[in-house]
Amino acid sequence: MQLKNFYITTPIYYVNDIPHLGHAYTSIVSDTLARYKRLNSYNVFFSTGTDEHGQKVEESAMNKGQETKTFTDTVSQRFKMLTNKLNLTNNDFIRTTEERHKKKVSLVWEKLINKDEIYLGDYEGWYSIRDESFISHSDIATDKDNNKIGPSKDILKKVKEPSYFFRLSKWQKPLLEFYKNNKEFVKPNTRYNEVKSFVEQGLEDLSISRTSFNWGIKVPGNSKHVVYVWLDALFNYISVLGEENSDKYKNFWPADVHVVGKDILRFHAIYWPAFLLAAGYKIPKSIFAHGWWTINGEKMSKSLGNVIDPNYLVDKYGCDQIRYFLLREIPCGKDGNFSEELLIKRINSDLANDYGNLVQRVLSMLQKYFNGKVPVLGSFNEDDSKLLLLPELSCKNIKPLMDDLDFNLALDEIWDIIRKANAYVDFNEPWALNKRNNMERLGTVLYILLNVIFKIAILTQPFLPLASQKILKLLKQNTEIKYSSIGSNLQSGITLDKPSAVFPRILKES
Ligand code: ME8
Ligand code: MG
Repeated sequence: MQLKNFYITTPIYYVNDIPHLGHAYTSIVSDTLARYKRLNSYNVFFSTGTDEHGQKVEESAMNKGQETKTFTDTVSQRFKMLTNKLNLTNNDFIRTTEERHKKKVSLVWEKLINKDEIYLGDYEGWYSIRDESFISHSDIATDKDNNKIGPSKDILKKVKEPSYFFRLSKWQKPLLEFYKNNKEFVKPNTRYNEVKSFVEQGLEDLSISRTSFNWGIKVPGNSKHVVYVWLDALFNYISVLGEENSDKYKNFWPADVHVVGKDILRFHAIYWPAFLLAAGYKIPKSIFAHGWWTINGEKMSKSLGNVIDPNYLVDKYGCDQIRYFLLREIPCGKDGNFSEELLIKRINSDLANDYGNLVQRVLSMLQKYFNGKVPVLGSFNEDDSKLLLLPELSCKNIKPLMDDLDFNLALDEIWDIIRKANAYVDFNEPWALNKRNNMERLGTVLYILLNVIFKIAILTQPFLPLASQKILKLLKQNTEIKYSSIGSNLQSGITLDKPSAVFPRILKES
C-alpha cells in the first residue's frame, strides 16, 4: 500500500540566545502532530533546526566576545540537545550555516534574478534588529527619549544602503487570489482574516540584501551584499529536503503545515508564498500560527528576560508532564499564562489522579484477584459495552480536532473516557464482587477495564509518548500501536507483571 506523505515543520530558531519554553512549545506541538500522523499510517517528514545568519546573531556573538561561527555552533547545539530532551521525532535538523542550505539559497537567488523578480536600488528606512525586519511608517512609534521604536519595542536603526529589492508589490493580486481559493491556508481562521486584510492594504517591494554587516549568505555575483535573513531562513523548508530531483523533495514538497508562532505569521503567510511563486515553487498547504506563552501577561521572550528553561522543567517534572501541560492547558491558537503552580495542578489532577490512578488500581486488582492473569469476558451489559466502545468513538472524534491542532479538545475527549472508566470502577465495586466471590462478573469488569486502558494508551501515544509506552509495556503489548488497531483487544490468559506508578504525584513545595 502506498503511504500518504505528510510534511510538517517548526520554525528554525535564532541562535542569538539559548532555547526557552516558547521554542519548546512549538516543537512539541509539531511533534505531537507528526506522531499522530505516523500512527495513522502517514509517511511523515518532520523538520526543525536553527536560523543562524543576520545582524541579531552577529551582534550577540560580538557581545559575548566570541567568533560568530563558534558562537552559533554552541547555541545551535543547545537547540539540538533540546530535541532529545523533549523526545522529538524530527527526521532532520537543519542549520542555515550548512553548505546544503547555502547552495539552495544561491540557487533561488539566481532563479529570482533570471526571472527579473529582483532589482538593485537603495534602501532608506528603519530596521528592527530584534525582529530582523524593515519597519513600515505606520508601525513606528517613539519612546520617552524620542528614539524610534518598532512593534517589539526595540530602538530602530536608520538604514541607508544599496540594496536588492524583491518585487513584492506585484504579488499583491496573485496572493489575494490565492487566499480566496485557499481558505485553509492560514489557520486558525481569525489569523487568515488578519493576513488577508494586511495584504489588501497594499504591499511595497521588499529590501532583500544588506551591505552594512557580513554575517550571511553572499549574494551571488555581488559579494558586498548578504542575503536578507528572512529570504535565507524561509528556504530552509526546501533545502532540508535535498536536491529537487530527489524522492524526498518530490514526496514532501509542498509542505502540509508550517507551525509557527503568531509573531512570524506575516513572513510565512505573505513573503514566503510570494518568494515561492516568483521562484517557481509550489506553495505549502497551510500555515498554523499558535499563540504565545506569557509570564504575568507578558510574552515570554529573550529580550524581556522572563524566559523559562525547558530543560529545567523536564528535569524537575518529566518530559510527558511538560508536553501534557502545554498541550492541554490552552487552545493552540490562543495565548496562555505559564506558572509552575498551574503545571503542578495539572500533573496532579489529570495525570496522577485520573490517568495514573486508573492504571494503578486496575492493574493492582488484576494482581490481587487473578494473580495478574487477564480474565475472560463473560456475559456483559449495555454499560460494559458502551465503555469498551468509547475509545473507538473518540478515535473518530479526535481526527478533525487533530487536523486543526485542537489538541486541548482532543485531550478532553480522551480524558472523558478516563473519567468514565474511573466511575465504572466505583460503580461496579470489584472489591465487593470479590467479597461475594462473583468471579465471573469480576473477570468481566476487569477485562473491560484492562481493554479500555489499552485503548486509551493507544490514543495517548502522540501526547504522552513515554507514559503510553510504559502502559503498553505493562500490558505486554508492542510499544507502538497504530490507531487503526484501536478495535483489537488484549488476549485473555496472558499474565501481566506487578504495576509500577506511571505518574507520580508532585508534592507541593513549602
Ligand atoms: O523568529 N510563546 O526565531 P525565534 C510561544 N528565526 N512560542 C514562542 C514564544 C512564546 N513566548 N517565544 C518564541 C525566529 N516562540 C526566526 C524564524 S522560520 C523560517 C525563522 C516560538 O528564535 C514561536 O514558534 O525568534 C515563534 O514563532 C518562534 O519561537 C520564534 O523563534
Ligand atoms: Mg523572535
